[in-house]
Amino acid sequence: MKVTVIGAGNVGATVAECVARKDMVAEVVLIDIVEGLPQGKALDLAQSAPIHGFDTKVVGTNDYADTAGSDICVITAGLARKPGMSRDDLLAKNAQIVESVTQQFAAKSPNAILIVVSNPLDVMTYVAYMTSGFPSHRVMGMAGVLDTARYRAFLAAELGVSVKDIQALLMGGHGDTMVPLPSYTTIGGIPVTQMIAKDKLDAIVERTKFGGGEIVKLMGTSAWYAPGAASAEMVEAIVKDSGRVLPAAVWLNGQYGLDGLFIGAPARLGRKGVEGIVEVSLTKDEKALLEASAAAVRGGVADLERIRKG
Ligand code: NAI
Ligand code: 2OP
Repeated sequence: MKVTVIGAGNVGATVAECVARKDMVAEVVLIDIVEGLPQGKALDLAQSAPIHGFDTKVVGTNDYADTAGSDICVITAGLARKPGMSRDDLLAKNAQIVESVTQQFAAKSPNAILIVVSNPLDVMTYVAYMTSGFPSHRVMGMAGVLDTARYRAFLAAELGVSVKDIQALLMGGHGDTMVPLPSYTTIGGIPVTQMIAKDKLDAIVERTKFGGGEIVKLMGTSAWYAPGAASAEMVEAIVKDSGRVLPAAVWLNGQYGLDGLFIGAPARLGRKGVEGIVEVSLTKDEKALLEASAAAVRGGVADLERIRKG
């Protein structure tokens, strides 16, 4: 199989590395608009292959001809918000980038599965969906795997348990309105609420919601190790046709009472892309939080439409 990663910046290069190190596909193509950058990173990555022991071929390019016939594409192209830049500026600029890269990629790989990473995540996934014309099961966004990983990492550190024993679910948009679900969080099969005091759990949920911002504050730019690993985990589920149930930004069509938007929900991933959306029961409060999050995502799409109309 062939995987293309668009955007050879911090996240894109890490996705390429994580996918290559899993040694599960024949080729990873890293593409960027900046000349030399994807070529240099691909060469560096290829030279790490003898050390890590992978046979995946890594190609760096500025030409979409090299991406032709890809099975999966991870879109990380886009800007991070800079000082002086309004949210609208970022929304408009990244929408333009995601639209342009999706168009160029889809023309060469009409049967591929798209995993969008660029922010604002849920809106950019919608842009890639509309631009590609791909069926909704072949378009998804990466956020839930990352946000859940942050939540699980915080819980493991607080409880002194292995991250491997923490299972958790998180829904909603990728932003302050995301909805971590303690009712679907277990430690070695034990409900989390039996292992941690409520105030500590509440604090971890709050920290998770602002987990991306915490890193931006520390280093002036956004994270890449966990986002890269999270994207590669989704790629792996598709490549191996594993049927893993992972939280992803997926097109809802009536599930959870929501219709016509991409938002985080548990999805079964396999070779066809999104092979099912799992509907879990939510309490009244959890449902209200998910609805508020959906309203925020819809607000982002409406803002984009307003900006585009001028
Ligand atoms: P970065 O600035 O390191 O890399 C972005 C790359 O995109 C740059 O190399 C740039 O040259 C490239 N690019 C820009 N326009 C392009 C175009 N038209 N065609 C091809 N390449 C183009 O940024 P980073 O840290 O890699 O983040 C990328 C995006 O991912 C941002 O929008 C960021 O907010 C988002 N992100 C999303 C996460 C999530 O959970 N969904 C987590 C972390 C980052
Ligand atoms: C993150 O959550 C900023 O979306 C980026 O790290």
